[in-house]
Amino acid sequence: MQSETLEVIESARLYGETHVLWFPLPDSFKTAQPGQFVMAYCGEGYDPLLGRALSVHRTRTGPRGIEFALLFDVVGRGTAWLARRERGDEVRMVGPLGRGFEPRPNVQRMLLVGGGIGVAPLVGLAEGLVAEGREVTMVLGARSEAGVFPASLLPPAVELIVTTEDGSAGERGRVTAPFERLLGWCDQAFACGPNPMFEAMYGVVRASQTAKPVQALLEGGMACGMGICYSCAVFPRRGGVKLVCHDGPMFDLRDLYA
Ligand code: FES
Repeated sequence: MQSETLEVIESARLYGETHVLWFPLPDSFKTAQPGQFVMAYCGEGYDPLLGRALSVHRTRTGPRGIEFALLFDVVGRGTAWLARRERGDEVRMVGPLGRGFEPRPNVQRMLLVGGGIGVAPLVGLAEGLVAEGREVTMVLGARSEAGVFPASLLPPAVELIVTTEDGSAGERGRVTAPFERLLGWCDQAFACGPNPMFEAMYGVVRASQTAKPVQALLEGGMACGMGICYSCAVFPRRGGVKLVCHDGPMFDLRDLYA
């Protein structure tokens, strides 16, 4: 984990209220795994004081070497500030933090499920899995077409299923239905999205009585990102307490809901 002040290489609104920022990948972030996150500090001074926890979205090779991206929705003052950053502006961030996705070795069929901005870490995960020669099916859900990550920006080998609540793109409904259809097909599943999505997915897992791993990346309300403040505490049904930033953000669904 390291604090870095990084220059924006590229800034764009990709779709709806979703923006992407590209930065050079510093040596200290080179170990970042899909599902790990950074705390990005959004402002020139100490206002706002707290960072915003953002997943590493994906990496690419640019003219200046390896670059990485953050993908985020504008939901408040901090993310609005980030969205206004332009090429040449600087952003301070600390990372990489947390425990990312852990794909099993020697399994082939991978199912990725994203709700809303939960697509952010799944794109880099999909790229890595495809590069390893694995089969990847991605289910992306959004309220409407305006909130759907562009299919053209995914690796061509990824099979994409889109659901929208209003039916304006793909299947009408939520990601739960395709997840239920595909759970039998996959060897391992990964998900990122809001907590109600995870609860619905756990209902499917429990009903199917499968033992397949389903790794969920939680969006906790993180203030420090480093296990100090307890703002991200979650309480598994079996009892105890877990910190999203330190014990996660990746958990097996059963560890939270069983
Ligand atoms: S964000 Fe402070 S303990 Fe997790």
